[in-house]
Amino acid sequence: MAQFEDCIEIETLINGEVVHRQVPSRMHLGDFLRIEMGLSGLHLGCEHGVCGACTVLVDGLLVRSCLMLAAQIHGCKVQTIEGVVESGAAKQMVDAFQKKNAAQCGFCSPAMILTTLEITKKPIRPKREQIREAISGNYCRCTGYQAIVDAVEDVFDQKENKQ
Ligand code: FES
Ligand code: FES
Repeated sequence: MAQFEDCIEIETLINGEVVHRQVPSRMHLGDFLRIEMGLSGLHLGCEHGVCGACTVLVDGLLVRSCLMLAAQIHGCKVQTIEGVVESGAAKQMVDAFQKKNAAQCGFCSPAMILTTLEITKKPIRPKREQIREAISGNYCRCTGYQAIVDAVEDVFDQKENKQ
């Protein structure tokens, strides 16, 4: 890779692992994670910031990895769906997606799970319209979104039943 364009050295933490790499200056983060790191859970749809399928967490914030350069993650902590699932943090949501049939073709699902997990971290349960608003940056061609909102509500139901 280093042979065809300017490269920049980065050191970053990806899913808990320290990573040192030379990255092409114009490579976006989505390509870096998929091609260089083999993290294919994030998907590339539009590659211009519209569909949300490429969402990952950088320093705890949801970002569109097609809109960020790989060079920009120097010194940052990146989490992809693989790392979040491996940590166990997504189990309740993944189970709720299965229960409510919120993943059909699955193309949007990794990003949708990362996004919905952020919703369920909020202390106050949002209304359905607010959940729809919160996921509106993630396109889903299959579900009509109802089942995804149902899954988020199911996670809130489970939390409330535990209290
Ligand atoms: S691929 Fe990044 S927003 Fe669509
Ligand atoms: S489940 Fe197919 S795009 Fe969302």
